[in-house]
Amino acid sequence: MITNRSVAPLAVILVAGSTVLTPPAWADPPPTPQPVAPAASPTTGRPGGGQTGKAPVAEGYGGAVSTVDPDASRAALKVLRRGGNAVDAAVAAAAVLGVTEPYSAGLAGGGFLLYYDARRGKVHTIDGRETAPKAMTATSLEGVPFEEAVTSGLSAGVPGSVAQWELALRRFGTLSLRQALQPAVEVADRGFTVDQTFHDQTAANAARFADFTSTAKLFLPGGAPPRVGSTFRNPELAETYRTLGRKGPGWLYGGRLGEEVVATVKRPPVTPGSARNVRPGLMELPDLRAYRALERPPTKVVYKGMDVYGMAPPSSGGSTVGEALNILEALPEVGPHEYLEASRLAFADRGRYVGDPSGVPGVPLAELLSDGFAKERACLVTERAMAHPAPAGEPDGAYGPCPADSPAAPETGTAAPEGPETTHLVVADRRGNVVAYNITIESTGGNGIVVPGRGFLLNNELTDFTFGPAPGDPNLPGPGKRPRSSMAPTIVLADGEPLLALGSPGGSTIITTVLQILVNRWEFGMSLPEALAAPRATQRNTAQTQAEQGFIDRHGAELTGRGHSLVLNPEIGAATAVEFLGRGRLQAVAEPSRRGGGSALVVSPAR
Ligand code: DON
Repeated sequence: MITNRSVAPLAVILVAGSTVLTPPAWADPPPTPQPVAPAASPTTGRPGGGQTGKAPVAEGYGGAVSTVDPDASRAALKVLRRGGNAVDAAVAAAAVLGVTEPYSAGLAGGGFLLYYDARRGKVHTIDGRETAPKAMTATSLEGVPFEEAVTSGLSAGVPGSVAQWELALRRFGTLSLRQALQPAVEVADRGFTVDQTFHDQTAANAARFADFTSTAKLFLPGGAPPRVGSTFRNPELAETYRTLGRKGPGWLYGGRLGEEVVATVKRPPVTPGSARNVRPGLMELPDLRAYRALERPPTKVVYKGMDVYGMAPPSSGGSTVGEALNILEALPEVGPHEYLEASRLAFADRGRYVGDPSGVPGVPLAELLSDGFAKERACLVTERAMAHPAPAGEPDGAYGPCPADSPAAPETGTAAPEGPETTHLVVADRRGNVVAYNITIESTGGNGIVVPGRGFLLNNELTDFTFGPAPGDPNLPGPGKRPRSSMAPTIVLADGEPLLALGSPGGSTIITTVLQILVNRWEFGMSLPEALAAPRATQRNTAQTQAEQGFIDRHGAELTGRGHSLVLNPEIGAATAVEFLGRGRLQAVAEPSRRGGGSALVVSPAR
């Protein structure tokens, strides 16, 4: 796998503190008291938690939500209770995450949204991925040290989230953008309680935050990270959301806010005396004007009778999860070894073939997801771990018998330690509509640069491009191009009805986390809470397989005996999911402990 990452931190966690929301201004009826969702322990199945909104499992009826953050989950639940649908609630939750998880999400980021429309029985996707400015070429990042690109104007992509929210609400929602932003305005004004992880993440970023006057002012009040237990308010972000609601997306995409974004990218507000080499960006106002969120057909594979829908390029999520599932289906048995090998092969193909289809004509998506190709790839899975690196296959439609001894491709990069940044949320509403939504500003803290006076960080999504030189690489930068993503929001239907929706943060480990949860659920007989909680491993066509300690303890001896080399990754992916249990019963599931534990809620515990 080609990567430019070399020293990204492995384990930084963020959990926002909790606050109680007052009813949003758009809510006419007085707030109904919030019944506590009955939460069940993933191991015992017994009810637990819930008062704080931090229960990892909730079962009930009328709608469900799971996010990493209680404020965001409660905002979504309130929208559902007041008659909003899954899209309304997902946008509201995403905007709240921009307040309480400002280092993972925000209005200047991007994401991918999957939506199951129950009335039409159809899965839609909305691509809100950031784009490269028009001035960016295949060589713009060549020779730029990765760490320098991380904190720069150069890595800031044209934000996609606001256009995506607007399009999602217009196409599928019932609220206006102003209404959907209102819960986030409330949280930003009132503030949330700083917990250890918010403090720690700020501290981990303190050096670069201090290098920008605007960022230091917001996130290092008094020159230091906010104290644990203090209340963190962001009135400037509240005002930004309020104005955005009033003026609409045009305020960002060509208007005054857009001008300020461009000015910040081109002349980052570097603190006088800072020694940091901050490269300016290439973004101009016409880049913002030209931005469009796009509806795309979802990817689809059929796995043992279930329809698995995912995100198409420029994300590699749907194609890579889908190809790996197809390979597994072609194998006589599925265990941890097969899961790792299928993932290894799918990543080899991801690296070779997947990029933004507008910049790489001929991403062979249909062939990558074909059963014929999967069968050919499955031939390479033997009793022992295959030689590293697995070469890419030939998704050319002509699939013969298993090739003898495929030559190994040259090593092109090292295993990328992926951070836990980014976030995923799921929402289901009472009509059976479902949203799976991945959002990100890429690194923890994005590019580290707050737009002065506006309360939000810029993304550094363009670091997801291959920096090059890498002739033929489908993920080289280009004008208007979207960097390849690994985000993999996933919706599964069985017999035309929703069965599961899930997703995760974690860079390219997102793909393996989603795959592993599906394998845990379907092949290893785990309940959904068990499938999320189970220790994870991630094989992305790298020499070593990163794994959590629990996975090493459980499977290390057997896998090492079969030629795998496992290396510790303390935490892989803080996933969220929902399962349809039948007869209207929903099970919302969040992490019990990763990233401090998530927040699963249902509208009503009883029918
Ligand atoms: O789009 C992607 O795949 C990444 N930019 C997501 C960022 C993420 O998960 C953080 N991890 N490195």
